[in-house]
Amino acid sequence: MTAHDLIADASQTTDPEHGITTDDAVIVLDFGSQYSQLITRRVRECGVYCEMLHHDATWDEVAGLEPKGVILSGGPNSVYADGAPQLPSWVLDRDLPVLGICYGMQLLARALGGAVEPGNRKEYGQASLTVARATGDATLFEDTPNQINVWMSHGDHVSTPPDGFHIIATSPNSPVAAMERGHVVGIQFHPEVNHTEYGTDILRNFLTRIAGCTPTWSSESFIDDAVQQIRDQVGDGKVLLGLSGGVDSSVAAALIHKAIGDQLTPVFVNNGLLREGEAEMVQEVFARHFGMPLVYADAGERFLEMLSGVEDPELKRKVIGEQFIRVFEREAAKAGPFDFLAQGTLYPDVIESTTKDTKAAAKIKTHHNVGGLPDDMQFALIEPLKFLFKDEVRKVGRALGLPDEIVERQPFPGPGLAVRTMGAVVDDDLVLLRGADAIVREEIEAAGLAGDVWQYFAVLLPVRSTGVMGDDRTYGRVCAIRAITSQDAMTADWARLPFEVLALISNRIVNEVHGITRIVYDITSKPPATIEWE
Ligand code: XMP
Repeated sequence: MTAHDLIADASQTTDPEHGITTDDAVIVLDFGSQYSQLITRRVRECGVYCEMLHHDATWDEVAGLEPKGVILSGGPNSVYADGAPQLPSWVLDRDLPVLGICYGMQLLARALGGAVEPGNRKEYGQASLTVARATGDATLFEDTPNQINVWMSHGDHVSTPPDGFHIIATSPNSPVAAMERGHVVGIQFHPEVNHTEYGTDILRNFLTRIAGCTPTWSSESFIDDAVQQIRDQVGDGKVLLGLSGGVDSSVAAALIHKAIGDQLTPVFVNNGLLREGEAEMVQEVFARHFGMPLVYADAGERFLEMLSGVEDPELKRKVIGEQFIRVFEREAAKAGPFDFLAQGTLYPDVIESTTKDTKAAAKIKTHHNVGGLPDDMQFALIEPLKFLFKDEVRKVGRALGLPDEIVERQPFPGPGLAVRTMGAVVDDDLVLLRGADAIVREEIEAAGLAGDVWQYFAVLLPVRSTGVMGDDRTYGRVCAIRAITSQDAMTADWARLPFEVLALISNRIVNEVHGITRIVYDITSKPPATIEWE
């Protein structure tokens, strides 16, 4: 199947299996490593389109992308353990270029007749790799030094490579730290992590010198492909887009508008769960930067009514997801008919929301723009960004000419403040939360820290705590501040905000937001916590 067929084929469905690309592509098969995502990102950074699939993906599931190579990720298992994930037979049967990383290399060694053994000493952390150029081609290490500091994380190791493989690198605890036979290569270390020197060069060598990929994937090539795909999918139909004003839906709007012009109608829903000043700001920014009208739907009362008494976070998301659709249907009846609903869903949303039915990563939260939609929805979905990471969406936004005030906005969840006030949503609580959140944003931005912090916000806790103000005892609410650093929201660390900034925020909130009397700072990373509190 050619790439052109692939585009035409995808237009038959509203939910293409893969991102559509006319560029060379490779597949990462995920064997459960915490770094599998990172491999995918690094490959894309090398200009080669890449998708991550579950380790037992069938060839039929993969074929549509016409992969020029396959990367086998690491994983927590021993290849000999009962039930350990195994190499799908198509990987070797198809004679594709393969790079096995850590567990992936051990799978290759075992499948091809080599030996894998528990190491006398496990190897975690930094190790010194010695490249053995004399024994083989060592294509993987072309243009790297002979001595490289790499990151290891394994108990088992390959003790004997399969027939025909050259050992092209060793480390103190790995007699076979890298092996190569033609276009099948394995490495025991992790080239995808920052701690591995020349890691990206090693990956690039696999992609370009071994798999023969041409590194042409870029924001511009993505836009060209996406525009074509949207045109094919929509035909002369009409598309309604839920615009939140955030980066994702704004970039989706610009992209779809480029593809189909005024067949697109963006709708901004005020769901009563927005931050202070947000509804006005979104409309004002949109009017300045987009050459199309924006429909404003004021639905706050309706959302709050439907949320009344709903405590469970997943149920809240479901209620909100459903109400969004009902509002879109109402708007569609006025300006429609519409065939499609467009959303700014991203790759991490897809991965984190996937259920066990589809065998991918365990479901963490139902992000409304993926999982909270009602079954009886009248629209087919268009999600042109669903194979992109956030930083890639920002690049696409810039390439489409959107300004920093849109592409640099911090992410804000679809269910809005509903997941930042614990339990049932109460109107008065939203007032407190909005006041506190505005102060957090103001002070972090005034301190010039907005660019360093991925997300920063206030969370209103359901507990009360005793305090003293003036000569009076108080018994008020507790507010948590959450500020995190992240690359893609899949993992996150709490931001080391300067104490002075935290002091200022705390002082202002207890003085200016009557009802909040204690402030705490959330110092949990993700994992084990998530970014939002619900
Ligand atoms: P968590 O809390 O899962 O958040 O670590 C990861 C990222 O996703 C955002 N988030 C959501 N976005 N609908 C959305 O559109 C949701 O239901 C939702 N829940 C979390 C969160 O703000 C962070 O950027």
